[in-house]
Amino acid sequence: MDITQRLFTYSDAISLHVPGHHRYSIGSLQLPISHDMTEISGLDDYHHAEEVIADSQRRLARADEYEARYLVNGTTVGILSVIHAYKKKSHKKVAMMRNAHKSVFNALDLTGTEAIILPMTVSEKTQQYIGIGKLNPNAKWDEIGLAVLTYPNYFGETFDIRSAIDFFHQKGIEVLVDEAHGAHFDISPQFPSSSLNYQADYVVQSYHKTLPALTMGSVIHINHKSSLRREVDHYLSVLQTSSPSYLILSSLEQAHAFYRHYHDGVFHHKRQSLLHALRHFEVIEVQDPLKIMLRKTGYSGAELKQLLEQQEIYVELSNYDSVLLVLPLWHEGDTYPFDKLLLRLKRLQLEKRQPLNASQPLNVDEGFYSPVNEHYQTVTLAEGIGYRLYHALIPYPPGIPYVWPGEKLTEAHVKVLSSYQNVHGIIDGKITIIDER
Ligand SMILES: Cc1ncc(COP(=O)(O)O)c(C=O)c1O
Repeated sequence: MDITQRLFTYSDAISLHVPGHHRYSIGSLQLPISHDMTEISGLDDYHHAEEVIADSQRRLARADEYEARYLVNGTTVGILSVIHAYKKKSHKKVAMMRNAHKSVFNALDLTGTEAIILPMTVSEKTQQYIGIGKLNPNAKWDEIGLAVLTYPNYFGETFDIRSAIDFFHQKGIEVLVDEAHGAHFDISPQFPSSSLNYQADYVVQSYHKTLPALTMGSVIHINHKSSLRREVDHYLSVLQTSSPSYLILSSLEQAHAFYRHYHDGVFHHKRQSLLHALRHFEVIEVQDPLKIMLRKTGYSGAELKQLLEQQEIYVELSNYDSVLLVLPLWHEGDTYPFDKLLLRLKRLQLEKRQPLNASQPLNVDEGFYSPVNEHYQTVTLAEGIGYRLYHALIPYPPGIPYVWPGEKLTEAHVKVLSSYQNVHGIIDGKITIIDER
């Protein structure tokens, strides 16, 4: 089957996943295909905006301290650009979290930048990485020039980002916040607070994930005080196309207007009805009301996902024992098939089961990431103890790296990894290590 045919098979599917327009049912996007245009007179130059794009970007700033740029290659390109800009001016390391997106690793690899991994905390509710553990104020912070923080986590959980930003600023370290999952933050007082309120230097938000914008549409907010403003602009034009999609740009502008004028009354009302319809599940609510996790004793996440898909309800992801829903920002006049969703949820049949085995804890230790450019060899897990890894070891599920490239494999790591059936990075019993200790 080809892509086009495959897409038509979802005509009756209900979205509880990104993008935030939920199949064109949220917001009132005006996107006629005839607006797919190029940079003719009057449509400005994306890489050197001075007219209509520049005007629109001025209205996009969320606070006086920031200027904003439209991104047509997602938050990915915002992160790549900031780290490239940083490397151009600094030889220092980066500090990062264990739940960093792969664009962070890719940027480190592409620029040959080393990173320290910050100690992590894990959420009791979701068993996911959530924030930063206790930081030693006397560590060698002068070796670090940029901290890359993931806020919120994928599952809608937040941590004290304000204190984290203050800590790094006091050490003279700039902060890039990957706010991919928080473009809707501050949309009303019931939603969490954006890191834009706390003087982060660079904040990248995936508008397309939670606001009604086209996929790939993101925004980077750059603080006027940040040191890399010009360099970031330079890399945005190096790393992005010279033929931006005006449909994406226009959808971002419209998503921003949606954000500005949103009232959350309908949202909370519908969310309550949904929670009632989900009462036969264990429902895990987090700080972001847009995210909900579902569990059911004895069911794996993959089974729950399949059960919902049998009713043509599609979720964002499944992991060991749960599924993640991304709710729409429902509003007066949306066309989301809400009644159909409730009807389909009623049809679900869940049985009583014995609990699954408990999942293994995540690695929360401080660590080290080195870009992959060294000699390597393959050895068994036991032989690899004491060596630095060339490829990450990622138990699947949950699909979260347990030991990263550049980190030393320990006996304790091997003990935990041996308890998983499937670990990406182990092929025919062998792992890849950097061949010097
Ligand atoms: C935490 C995080 N950061 C960045 C990204 C990349 O965002 P985008 O798809 O907008 O490039 C993702 C994508 O899922 C993500 O989960």
